[in-house]
Amino acid sequence: MTRLAVPDLCLVVLVGATGSGKSSFARRHFLPTQTVSSDTCRGVVSDDEGSQEATKDAFDLVHYIVGKRLAAGRLTVVDATNVKPEDRRHLVEVAREHDVLPVAIVLDVPPEVCAERNSTRPDRAHMPAHVVPRHVRELRRGLRSLAREGFRTVHHLRGAAEIEAAEIALEP
Ligand code: CTP
Ligand code: MG
Repeated sequence: MTRLAVPDLCLVVLVGATGSGKSSFARRHFLPTQTVSSDTCRGVVSDDEGSQEATKDAFDLVHYIVGKRLAAGRLTVVDATNVKPEDRRHLVEVAREHDVLPVAIVLDVPPEVCAERNSTRPDRAHMPAHVVPRHVRELRRGLRSLAREGFRTVHHLRGAAEIEAAEIALEP
């Protein structure tokens, strides 16, 4: 078991390619109400959780909900790929506005594993083959800049076994 220390009030930003297991991780370790999912927000604004056209409105909604929860002093988890620095920047800003620590949990899963999982997913339409390798490239390129972006705590989980063995330890 690996204990991941997480402040009991913080903004947890999950970082991982599609198929890396972010939503599964959020379900296992956090309450459904603590988790703000970009796909759920796509669904809210477009009736289609897979709609890429709804991206801008979906993320406006993600940021709005995150801000409201942090203002209320509620631990919040962002379930979105968050692989690019520009995807993360606004989340760090919202956390700062509310004096809350942003914490990154990186699910660094080999592209073959993500692709294999995606190929058998009941919940998602067929994903073009180039998407996973791109996400993994972007994720790895950005790893070293996470601290500079404002993530004081970065939990970098390498591979499915490390993710499986992780437990969240909330700390006051
Ligand atoms: N999965 C698995 N074993 C794990 C984690 C996930 O077999 N240890 C499976 C899930 O059951 C799901 C698929 O892999 O069918 C993708 O997992 P999910 O948690 O949905 O991945 P996300 O990172 O949330 O993918 P996306 O960005 O596309 O939402
Ligand atoms: Mg997901």
